Amino acid sequence: MFKKLRNKFLILNMSMTSAVMIAAFAVIYIISYNNINSEIAKKLNPQAGMQTVIEGAGVPDELKNSKPKTLNRRFSPDGTYSFIIQVDGNGRIIEIDSPFDLPEETYNKAAEIAWNNKQSSSVVTLEGKQWRYAVNQINKHVIQENGQSFTVEENKYQIIFLDVTTYKETLFQLLITLLSVGLIMIIAIFFISLYYANRTIKPIDEAWERQKQFVADASHELKTPISIINANYDALLANKEETIESQIKWLEYIKIGTDRMTKLINDLLSLAKMEDVSFPMHKVPFNISDAVNDVALSMEAVMAEKEIKLIRSIEPDIVVASDPERIKQVVTILFDNAVKYTNQKGQIDLSLAKSKRHVVFSIKNTGKGIPKEDLPRIFDRFYRVDPARSQETGSYGLGLSIAKAIIDKLDGEIHAESVENEYAIFTFTLPL
Ligand SMILES: Nc1ncnc2c1ncn2[C@@H]1O[C@H](COP(=O)(O)OP(=O)(O)O)[C@@H](O)[C@H]1O
Ligand SMILES: [Mg+2]
Repeated sequence: MFKKLRNKFLILNMSMTSAVMIAAFAVIYIISYNNINSEIAKKLNPQAGMQTVIEGAGVPDELKNSKPKTLNRRFSPDGTYSFIIQVDGNGRIIEIDSPFDLPEETYNKAAEIAWNNKQSSSVVTLEGKQWRYAVNQINKHVIQENGQSFTVEENKYQIIFLDVTTYKETLFQLLITLLSVGLIMIIAIFFISLYYANRTIKPIDEAWERQKQFVADASHELKTPISIINANYDALLANKEETIESQIKWLEYIKIGTDRMTKLINDLLSLAKMEDVSFPMHKVPFNISDAVNDVALSMEAVMAEKEIKLIRSIEPDIVVASDPERIKQVVTILFDNAVKYTNQKGQIDLSLAKSKRHVVFSIKNTGKGIPKEDLPRIFDRFYRVDPARSQETGSYGLGLSIAKAIIDKLDGEIHAESVENEYAIFTFTLPL
């Protein structure tokens, strides 16, 4: 019934947590990507193209040489993998500064590609590795003999090639890690959300089922008195000429039917009111000892009929702040049951006592008691241990659920104990 609601809840939960997670991962990736790029940019810094020349000291010999010269460094100065090619204004190689032992044509190719796209700092693949390059014009920092210094732009270019394979791999690894962690987390979130969605829906589902069951039970219970009334009405109609006097039997059956319906409807209304959270209780201080004695007195006739012995142990003048009418209703329900379910010539023990913080009422009756397996369900609506027998007595199994609803509303507790074929005890406590 609530599957749709649960799925909606699940989808909402999933999309929200996933969105937060994806956003967090995207931020991590973007930050790492930017960090790596700025590190690369720093390494391709044009400042590296600054040359200091002391004028008057003469032009270095090797610059006069038209053949490219390869300087083989053993290590890269900052531990990164890079090589530098110097070219002239036409892109011809002047000098190669490299720690790698690469063939001449690789350098030529590298210089050519870089020179042809010198506007942009881009990536080229050489010898199975990825290189990012930057073309910078060489600035010459000239210090004149008289001590004056200035910077001149030369018609020479320096191309720095930086091995970015590891950077790319690092970024790729990060992406794979984020994706796999993300996937695992989405699966985990799905199961966690499913668990919580089910847990949230469960009480609603149960309440709904109970409500449906309640309506079904109530309709079923109403059917019996209605069919009694209908049958007897038909019997009356069949003998239209007869006097009321002679038909009184049918009329009495009809009366029994309407009485049962009245009782059932009153019980249903009572229950509906008690289970309505907004229905107010009228709490006032009253003498609960007197209230219990009053109920006992009203039961005397029925008890005498069954020759039941009543043993009372009622502490006098206990005053409790509660709803007197509702408390009387509960005592009546429990007393009525005690009388109804006690054996002929049985015994009822009535007790009312005060402890430090509570008033404790209990009623014990001899008789068949309640089987152990039925005890937990005894306060359920329409629950009867012996439904067949209850039909005759006109009981609907609503009494105890009304009693429990009232006691719950008055912040008390109610429970039943029983030893089958010996006795049953019902106890309720109320806060003082
Ligand atoms: N004092 C009792 N002794 C034995 N059984 C009891 C007692 N009180 C209640 N029960 C059992 O609990 C069931 C539910 O009680 P209740 O809700 O008052 O409904 P009803 O009395 O209308 O059947 C009864 O049908 C009966 O089987
Ligand atoms: Mg009852």
